[in-house]
Amino acid sequence: MSQETSDPNPYNLSKNEPFSNILDKVISRRGWLINSGSAAASLGILAPGGFLQGCGRDKDESQKLDPKLSFKSVSGSKTDAVVIPDGYTAQVFAPWGTPINPSAKEWKSDGGNSSEDQINSMGMHHDGIFYFPINGSSTEGILCVNHEYIDKKALHADGEKVGQPEWVRKEINAHGVSVIRIRLKDGNWSIVKNDALNRRITGASEMKIAGPLAGASSMITPFSPKGDRTRGTLNNCGSGWTPWGSFLTCEENWPGYFVVDESHMTPAQKRLGISSLNQGWYNWHLPAGHTTEANGEFSRFNLTPKESSPLKDYRNEGNGFGYVVEIDPYDPKSLPVKRTALGRFRHESVVYGQLKEGQPITWYSGHDSRFEYLYKFVSKALWNPSDAKRSDRLEVGSKYLDEGTLYAARFNEKGKGTWLPLNAENPSLSGFGSLENILLNTPGAADAVGATPMDRPEWIAVDPETGRIYMTLTNNSKRDGSKGKEADHANPRINNAYGHIIQWDESSNSDTSFNWDIFVFGAPADSDPNTNRSKLTQDNQFASPDGLVFDNRGILWIQTDNGAKGVKKHTNDQMLAVVPSTLKSNEDDPAVIHQHNQAQLKRFFVGPNGCEVTGCAFTPDHRNFFINIQHPSNWPAADEDNATIASKGKVRPRSSTVVIRRKDGGLIGT
Ligand code: FEO
Ligand code: CA
Ligand code: CA
Ligand code: CA
Repeated sequence: MSQETSDPNPYNLSKNEPFSNILDKVISRRGWLINSGSAAASLGILAPGGFLQGCGRDKDESQKLDPKLSFKSVSGSKTDAVVIPDGYTAQVFAPWGTPINPSAKEWKSDGGNSSEDQINSMGMHHDGIFYFPINGSSTEGILCVNHEYIDKKALHADGEKVGQPEWVRKEINAHGVSVIRIRLKDGNWSIVKNDALNRRITGASEMKIAGPLAGASSMITPFSPKGDRTRGTLNNCGSGWTPWGSFLTCEENWPGYFVVDESHMTPAQKRLGISSLNQGWYNWHLPAGHTTEANGEFSRFNLTPKESSPLKDYRNEGNGFGYVVEIDPYDPKSLPVKRTALGRFRHESVVYGQLKEGQPITWYSGHDSRFEYLYKFVSKALWNPSDAKRSDRLEVGSKYLDEGTLYAARFNEKGKGTWLPLNAENPSLSGFGSLENILLNTPGAADAVGATPMDRPEWIAVDPETGRIYMTLTNNSKRDGSKGKEADHANPRINNAYGHIIQWDESSNSDTSFNWDIFVFGAPADSDPNTNRSKLTQDNQFASPDGLVFDNRGILWIQTDNGAKGVKKHTNDQMLAVVPSTLKSNEDDPAVIHQHNQAQLKRFFVGPNGCEVTGCAFTPDHRNFFINIQHPSNWPAADEDNATIASKGKVRPRSSTVVIRRKDGGLIGT
């Protein structure tokens, strides 16, 4: 979601104040970092399961991950083309509108494809992504791609029209997830068209509700009298995966898709930011009642109660959104499952902490909005590595994603933090009355327990070497220093235009305390020292970190969703790389990346004008990287699959995956 289009309203009106106002304090907080490297000793615990093995996600206990970045940092760029280091290639792959089966017509450059074409083609605005190998292969696998939102102007043939059924259907079908079988041949990747594994999951596909809210009265709709089904997944931003080989897609800015008459707005709807009537993003409710409307396909986006019961109107439809959704990419007939135990909010992405046999699995997810929170979910079930080999993946998902405890994070002084339970046993939440009510208004519950409001939590990633967890905090221009909006230890810059990355460390998966530190501050190279705290240079200046993925070698890939003037004048959005486990921090420096080691943060990739760089996946052999380009303004060039070639004239822009390979077939980045 670009800065320009994400919902700028802070919905957190709680008075959870920063723990203290500490800009003038020197924090001594490095001690824990030095010891925490020993967490690597527990790495043998990464399961030797079928999927993990195929994915290269396990490593020998004695093996030390110590990759060396071999490429030269690329310069900033502002062109209608992708920039990569010398010796690499970049292929435009599976752009919006590419047919995945014969029911779709080829993409038309005039925007003239139908809603039926769209449901059989790649969706729009690629974001989170993951590569699932077939039989462990790095040349044949399944790619899952999130489609976060749409650009109506590009989607439709002639500008913006609202309220027409065919248009709304095309828009709904351009959302969701694409699951495609892909193959590498002669250095080029292609979609295996018409493969049985190919499928589109859209804003209208049937899905299951699982976890504590399955069958709850609040989930009853005319479509699901038992409250165990819903239709569609929306605003699929970041992603995650499971140790057993399923894809996790996250519903981020879904509240903008629903409207409700202001007089009926519930506290939970207000807290989550559901739109009032006529302020919805896409106004899909407008064709409600049209003669062609089937099964309330448009009516369901208006949550205003109109009849005597939720069996007759769509008051509960929005309660089916705001979740992490699990998809089995290997079973095209399986229904996606909404995992309600992980909470209901604007989930950016989700990731599991280091696996330890016989311990719970920990899942982390951030709520991307200004002054929102970081969450973790700790499974009740204890990890059994043989579960990674099971083929009933969604049953395994039920075991580790439906039962457990959800927590919100409080970042205390001096690099210490506390996980605050969000359950009915917590006396601070007695007013909610039930776990059902807590989950439906997860951020409201986090307000009540005193979680720390953050500068927009985006992606989270776990270092395979150390187990340390990293999270992007993209920016927060509304942290203006006024009461309740002061800087704090974890969000230490007023008017945080450039964002930062925070890291933490847990001694065990069920621990309720953690140690944290700031990893790096985004900033323009030429900004003042209080802004450029990591001493970034022309080679690595960045703003608004967003996508964040570790590869299995321990390289951290950082993607940006820019928009901050000081950096934007030098470069488009980009992707940088660094090996965090090799960095030494100094007690006196404000972040782990500082003046003496900042050169180890290198720019690997720059996107075309207008874009945001979103999502990163790799084949198990690290010889193919899949990076998404979202909302470019004039790219890719017509009839050109070399992503580094600039458009000659004006083109209808298409979000797309870009596949990066090395000309010599070698490992990416090292
Ligand atoms: Fe969809 Fe927070 O980025
Ligand atoms: Ca995005
Ligand atoms: Ca994002
Ligand atoms: Ca963003």
